[in-house]
Amino acid sequence: MPKYLPRVLSGMRPTGPLHLGHYFGALENWVRLQNSGEYACWFFSADWHALTTGYRDTSHIAEYRRDMFATWMAVGLDPDKATFFAQAALPEHGELATLFGMITPIPWLERVPSYKEVRQELSDRDLSTIGFLNYPLLQTADITMYLATHVPVGEDQLAHVELSREVVRRFNSYYGEVFPEPKGLVTKVKRLPGLDNRKMSKSYGNAIYLTESPDEVKKKVMPAPTDPARIRRSDPGTPEKCTIYAYQAIVQEEGTLAEIAEGCRTAAIGCVDCKKKLLAGLEGFREPIRAKHADILASGDLDDIIVEGNRKARAEAQLTMHRVREVMGL
Ligand code: TRP
Ligand code: SF4
Repeated sequence: MPKYLPRVLSGMRPTGPLHLGHYFGALENWVRLQNSGEYACWFFSADWHALTTGYRDTSHIAEYRRDMFATWMAVGLDPDKATFFAQAALPEHGELATLFGMITPIPWLERVPSYKEVRQELSDRDLSTIGFLNYPLLQTADITMYLATHVPVGEDQLAHVELSREVVRRFNSYYGEVFPEPKGLVTKVKRLPGLDNRKMSKSYGNAIYLTESPDEVKKKVMPAPTDPARIRRSDPGTPEKCTIYAYQAIVQEEGTLAEIAEGCRTAAIGCVDCKKKLLAGLEGFREPIRAKHADILASGDLDDIIVEGNRKARAEAQLTMHRVREVMGL
């Protein structure tokens, strides 16, 4: 008998090329979970979730999705070990979200912290939509469709998983034990701020992408702020107060890192030299990813991989929906 593995499911919205924050905040952990052999892993493109805030211009979704899958593979996610799929190819997710909507009081959705927060943050668009309010319920459908037990997410997504648990409890209490209660697996992330020390995000223009050219990275790193105490070259600095150092801590070997810290504290190195070392370290990390990403996009296998992943997901989704329709008397 094959061993029944607990299931991991996670997704990302295809809203642009992936940056270092995606890698250190999520993908590194996904790869680890995939390779642990302890879970059956399902990773998907949350296409409709991208629409909840980006519904006006949808012209890049398909392109970003391909790019995202290629980047996943470039960093070590493997379609032979995990299933990759696209939410938009699975109408079952919409059906299940609709059915969950029947049993979910609107205030449960209104009180999810990100509902208010993201509306404030993205005040340039109208987010008083059904779709945006329903974001966590659609996420609940994504998770429960595959009977996922573990959902690796960042801290900011925990409230969504908590809502999923409440919906699952209500569903199971009404119609019978169909879904396991999913648990959030919070990633112990190496916190990596954007180059301006705010959250790394495409919308702030402070992100380093995994696959952009070394020149583009250089253009962003060289003018980035450092420890403000280092006004003159001879002023000593405090690495812990410097965003550049947060990046060094991620890409450099221990010995090099210690040299940089010491050099900063004693003003033995200047910020320009320090940034050059960072660029070298970043390239050591990014170069193989960039090369693999380009190969995958060029190879033509990617579309077949996604079609196959969608097919596997669909088979699973159909089983779940059969059962759901049955227990709900539909
Ligand atoms: N909300 C998640 C994010 O923005 C993406 C997502 C959609 C997701 N559905 C999911 C994550 C299901 C985990 C499980 O990162
Ligand atoms: Fe930051 Fe490096 Fe300059 Fe120190 S030397 S302040 S760590 S950029």
